[in-house]
Amino acid sequence: METKTFGDKKIIIRKPIKSDAKNLKKFQVFINSLVEEEAMILMNEKTTLKQEKEYVDSMLKSARNKSKIYLVAEHDNKIVGNASVELEKWRTSHVGEFAIAIADGYRGVGLGNHLMSEVIELAKKELKPKPKIIRLRVYSDNIPAIGLYKKMGFKIVARIPKQIQYEGRLFDEFIMLKFL
Ligand SMILES: CC(C)(COP(=O)(O)OP(=O)(O)OC[C@H]1O[C@@H](n2cnc3c(N)ncnc32)[C@H](O)[C@@H]1OP(=O)(O)O)[C@@H](O)C(=O)NCCC(=O)NCCS
Repeated sequence: METKTFGDKKIIIRKPIKSDAKNLKKFQVFINSLVEEEAMILMNEKTTLKQEKEYVDSMLKSARNKSKIYLVAEHDNKIVGNASVELEKWRTSHVGEFAIAIADGYRGVGLGNHLMSEVIELAKKELKPKPKIIRLRVYSDNIPAIGLYKKMGFKIVARIPKQIQYEGRLFDEFIMLKFL
């Protein structure tokens, strides 16, 4: 666990802990705030507490069995960001799938950059087997996210047409890779 200042806010960066399974509400509020603002993430339906329980339980389980690394950013006892790398299975178990989201009000001050580099470093050290490639999916129009990913050394390797329904249109999706 570490505390770091972003903008004027002291943010705690940490891994999931057992008691998160008893504090589901703050995870639910975080993800639902992204759904509500129609952020460029895949999810577009609010979660229920029951779904959040399943999510947090599986997050704790995959952390225990070293198949997923997950970092949470907290401010004033609210979740304000998360990032993860999850290993694929079987013949693609050398590939880790990356995801990130930062809450509105906490963007543009370096938090995404920090969470992303930390979670990838942890993935290299702790996941079993050690990933050789990090892969991610992003809307082709998500300029902030693509900017962050390029800065982190990811390259666009494919553009898949019309994969994402967003604001009444079908958007292309980029697949981006970073070789470790
Ligand atoms: C994309 C996201 C993770 C970026 O996180 P962030 O904390 O705002 O980013 P940072 O402040 O660390 O900025 C890192 C880099 O990202 C890029 N970036 C961030 N905001 C940007 C913006 N508004 N426009 C263009 N580039 C931007 C820049 O390259 C920036 O580096 P710089 O500051 O040296 O220019 C965040 O905006 C977010 O969670 N958005 C909503 C959900 C989402 O889109 N998730 C990604 C789904 S694939």
